[in-house]
Amino acid sequence: MTDTKQLFIEADQTQLFQNWDGLSREDQQTLLSNLEQISSKRAPAKLLEDCQNAIKFSQANSSNDAVVDVQPLPHTSYESLIGNGDKEDEYHQVGLEAIGKGEVAVILMAGGQGTRLGSSQPKGCYDIGLPSKKSLFQIQAEKLIRLQEMVKVNKVEIPWYIMTSGPTRAATEAYFQEHDYFGLSKRQITFFNQGTLPAFDLTGEHFLMKDPVSLSQSPDGNGGLYRAIKENGLIEDFDKRGVKHVYMYCVDNVLSKMADPVFIGFAIKHGFELATKAVRKRDAHESVGLIATKNSKPCVIEYSEISNELAEAEDEEGLLKLRAGNIVNHYYLVDLLKRDLGQWCETMPYHIAKKKIPAYDSATGKYTKPTEPNGIKLEQFIFDVFETVPLDKFGCLEVDRSKEFSPLKNGPGSNNDNPETSRLAYLRLGTSWLKDAGAIVKDGVLVEVSNKLSYGGENLSQFKGQVFDKNGTTLEK
Ligand code: UD1
Repeated sequence: MTDTKQLFIEADQTQLFQNWDGLSREDQQTLLSNLEQISSKRAPAKLLEDCQNAIKFSQANSSNDAVVDVQPLPHTSYESLIGNGDKEDEYHQVGLEAIGKGEVAVILMAGGQGTRLGSSQPKGCYDIGLPSKKSLFQIQAEKLIRLQEMVKVNKVEIPWYIMTSGPTRAATEAYFQEHDYFGLSKRQITFFNQGTLPAFDLTGEHFLMKDPVSLSQSPDGNGGLYRAIKENGLIEDFDKRGVKHVYMYCVDNVLSKMADPVFIGFAIKHGFELATKAVRKRDAHESVGLIATKNSKPCVIEYSEISNELAEAEDEEGLLKLRAGNIVNHYYLVDLLKRDLGQWCETMPYHIAKKKIPAYDSATGKYTKPTEPNGIKLEQFIFDVFETVPLDKFGCLEVDRSKEFSPLKNGPGSNNDNPETSRLAYLRLGTSWLKDAGAIVKDGVLVEVSNKLSYGGENLSQFKGQVFDKNGTTLEK
C-alpha cells in the first residue's frame, strides 16, 4: 500500500477507498496524488483533530461569552474621526508621506465565493448598477490611481496584492488583463492564492469526497491570508520593495479607502502594530463582528458566534455596550508580520460552518446534492490573531459609515447590504463631495464622481456653481 493511502486509512478514512478496486489504474493514481497534495501540507489525522477542536470551540464560544470578560476597547486604543477634522488632517499628512516614500502596500482579500450574493463571478467583477457600470475592482483601481497622483513628491506605484482562491483566481486575473489593469501598471499588481481545506461530514470524523478521485475542498477562510502571505513569499517582496506598512481590506466594500493615508497615519503616529477601523453598529443584530477586548486582550466577537444577551447589552447611556462594528480594514506593521506571522499560522483556531456540500459516496457510487446541511467547512478568521498583539500596540479608528462602509453581501432585492444599497452609498458620497465643493445639485439628484477625479472629496473646485439637475451623470477625469 502506498504511504499516502496508509496515512488516510490510519486516520480512519476507509470510506475514500470503498471502490478502490473499481477504479482504473490511472484514477487510482489521480486519487492518490490528490490526497497527497492535501497530506503534504497537513497530516490527515491533524486535520481531523482540528475539525474536532473547531466543533468544540464553536459550541463553547456562544455559550461562553457571558462568562469571559468582554469589554469595549479602552480609550488608549480607540479614537473617533467623527468631528475630529484636525486629527484627520494630521494623520493624512503622515500617511501620505509614508506612501510617498514607497512604504505602503495594499492587500485585498478577494478569495470568498460570494455565495450569499448569488453571483458566479468573483465579487470584485460585480456591477452594482452605477451609471458608469464600473465594477468594484475598477473603482478600487481608480482610487489607487488618484492616490498616486496626490503624492506629489515622487512618482509612486503602490503595490497591490490580490488574494484569490481556487474558485476565484483564473476569472480575477483574466478580468484584470482584459481591462488592462484599469490603468495601473501590471508590475504593481500581484495575485496570490489562499489555501484550501477539505470538507467533513457533520460528525467531523470523515472527509467528504467530491468525486471518485478527489475530496471536496473549499477556501480556508479569510484567516488563510496569513498562511498565504507566508507561502507566497510576500514578506520577502515587501522587503525588496521597501514596504513597511500594509493596508488590508475586503473586496465587497465599495467605499473602502484604498491605502487610506488617514488610517496609516493614525497607526504610525500612535506606534500601533496592528490597527482596525470600526463603524457604529447599526442595530444589535447587524451582521458585523464587534471589536472589543476579551480578558483584556483585543478581539473581534463575530456576529455568527455572539450570544443574544451580549449583542443586546447596553451601557449606562442606553447605547449598545459593544458597538464598534468591524469593517475589516486592517493596518499591519511589516515588522509585526515578520515577527509573528509564523506563529499565527501554527496557532490560529478553526471555525465551523455547516453547509450543503455536494458529495460522492464511493461505497454506492452515488452523487448527492443535499437540500439540508450535510457537512462542515472549516474556516479561519483573520481577526483571531488580534489577541496576540499587546493592547498598547493595537488601535481602532472609528470612521463615518456613510464615507467608508457599505458592504455587498446579499443579492438584489434583499433587505440590506445589497447592490442597491452599495450603489446608493457610493452615489450619495460623491454627490456630497460635489455639494461641499460648491456645486448646485438639485434635490433628489445623484451624481457619480469618478475616483480617478477625486479620492476623498478633493479636487472638485472646478464644479463650483455648476448645476446638476439630472440623475445618471458621471464625472470622469
Ligand atoms: C466579515 C467579518 C465581520 C465583519 C464583516 C464586515 C470575518 C471573519 N468576518 O464577515 O467581522 O463585520 O466582514 O463586512 O472577517 N474572504 C476570502 N477568503 C475566504 C473567505 C472570505 O478572501 O475564504 C474574503 C471575502 O472575499 C471578503 C472578506 O473576506 O472580501 C469577508 O468575507 P465574508 O465571508 O463576506 O465575511 P462576513 O461574513 O461578511
